[in-house]
Amino acid sequence: MNPNNPSLITIAIDGYSSSGKSSMARHLAKTIGYRYIDSGAMYRAVALHALRNGMISHADNSVDADRLIAALPEIAIDFEVTGDTQSTLLNGENVETEIRAMAVSQCVSPVAAIPQVRHALVAMQQKMGESKGIVMDGRDIGTTVFPDAEMKVFVRASAQTRAQRRLSEMIEKGIATTFEEVLANVVSRDHIDETREESPLRCADDAVVLDNSFMSVEEQNKWLIDLYNRIISSL
Ligand code: CDP
Repeated sequence: MNPNNPSLITIAIDGYSSSGKSSMARHLAKTIGYRYIDSGAMYRAVALHALRNGMISHADNSVDADRLIAALPEIAIDFEVTGDTQSTLLNGENVETEIRAMAVSQCVSPVAAIPQVRHALVAMQQKMGESKGIVMDGRDIGTTVFPDAEMKVFVRASAQTRAQRRLSEMIEKGIATTFEEVLANVVSRDHIDETREESPLRCADDAVVLDNSFMSVEEQNKWLIDLYNRIISSL
């Protein structure tokens, strides 16, 4: 509990790529007046920096880990909130659109598997959550970043459903891609995220699991707020 405001808690929402956890997390944070942090955007910003600076192999998306680790002190990541929009800043530049491109999706999981990258970002994330009143989504929030979070959710859905959702999102944004390319990326990232040595994607023992394959956006938002209300009233 935050001693200055004992009603504030920490909320960790983890799950598979494109499971809809970011939109659920953002909606919950807005409804209850909490700060929302998209930890995936932070890994994407580091991956973009690596991509721009020639640290990613064109052949197989492997990373020059030594160069990236040496460059970590030069990478500053922040978030800027304008009205309802939250943008990711990489060294002060708004890179919100660029970090969602397929080129970044294809190299982000190898970047996120580097232990030194994880240590740097986890430390930043823990600092952001020091005063509680935060909703953070990602892969290791309930297991590694905030193992003592009062509310933990783990979101899953079939790979086909997730790829279809991500494809619709990308088409809406005018990003050229195909279902096959998106599905291959979702499956490959799941595999790298689940099998890496350092804080792999894993459901925390005390997380509540949600399979939202057959749920509408409204249904999943209501499910999350009901869970939050139950947890708050039990504290
Ligand atoms: O939006 P989507 O669910 O596809 O992914 P994201 O949340 O933007 O995360 C992009 C990638 O960053 C993931 O595939 C992971 O490899 C990595 N990530 C991570 O390792 N740990 C986190 N806490 C968040 C993201």
